[in-house]
Amino acid sequence: MRHFQHVSDLGDLRAALDEARAVKADRFRFESLGRHRTALLIFFNNSLRTRLSTQKAARNLGMDVIVLDVNQGAWKLETERGVVMDGDKSEHLLEAVPVMAQYCDVIGVRTFARFENRADDYQEKILNQFIQYSGRPVFSMESATVHPLQAFADLITIEEYKEKARPKVVLTWAPHPRSLPQAVPNSFAEWMMAADVDFVVTHPEGYELDPRFVEGAHVEYDQWKALEGADFVYAKNWSCPGVTRPEAYGQILSKDMGWTIDAAHMAVTNNAYFMHCLPVRRGMIVTDDVIESPRSIVIPEAANREISATVVLKRILESL
Ligand code: CP
Repeated sequence: MRHFQHVSDLGDLRAALDEARAVKADRFRFESLGRHRTALLIFFNNSLRTRLSTQKAARNLGMDVIVLDVNQGAWKLETERGVVMDGDKSEHLLEAVPVMAQYCDVIGVRTFARFENRADDYQEKILNQFIQYSGRPVFSMESATVHPLQAFADLITIEEYKEKARPKVVLTWAPHPRSLPQAVPNSFAEWMMAADVDFVVTHPEGYELDPRFVEGAHVEYDQWKALEGADFVYAKNWSCPGVTRPEAYGQILSKDMGWTIDAAHMAVTNNAYFMHCLPVRRGMIVTDDVIESPRSIVIPEAANREISATVVLKRILESL
């Protein structure tokens, strides 16, 4: 595997999950694979879990790691071609990317959607410039439209906790005070559609996810109905994806606190496990009692970020 953005990049998903289980059982087994190899992790946006888990994964494989926070200490980067650079951006991505590539073997990029232009975001303009101009394998550490390391960790976690062969997994929108990208729900939907689960998505009208991620998924606008009998509840906020409301792309259409996951919502499920990618806004997305309950698996879910990243980096290293 050279680049990593989508579930299809892993090939046989069952084999990838088996590999994740083997890596988790002995995470240092491949520590000679990354000897004299360097991972460059580039952050255009904040991160706690991705920053720590991906570094840990690279070190599990014996790699050296360089972390660059582009907006703190590096030159501010221009990403558009053909502009007169008379503002506060001192360096162009077209020079910066090939320069960065000189110092590493693999590049991870975190770059959120900008909500300025839906086409630019959904074409993954920034991530694809890294692929095009670095000549290195590039993996998404959450880019404009996808968060595959998170979705892989989510699926590993569901595999570990499921109590029946084909569990019901519900992705539910929940309110948030700020406009958030669609990367996490997009990837979660993409990966659940590829997995052997009964997958349901629920959200208010206007929050329809892009068909390339939810084509064929069961969408239920009544959150209570969607949650009935659920084995896993995956809560997440996202802003308007601009599918049925193109003019509202990236905007907040609802702050309906009736969608917050509380004990009453969990009571209609099949004693479901609660999941969230974190960071989470308590009192908005989920109540304290639900996230602190024994059925909340947000911490093991975060722990599996190390495993998903180890498998992905291992596969990239094997392709070098
Ligand atoms: N879930 C996740 O990606 O967390 P961070 O934004 O802290 O990396």
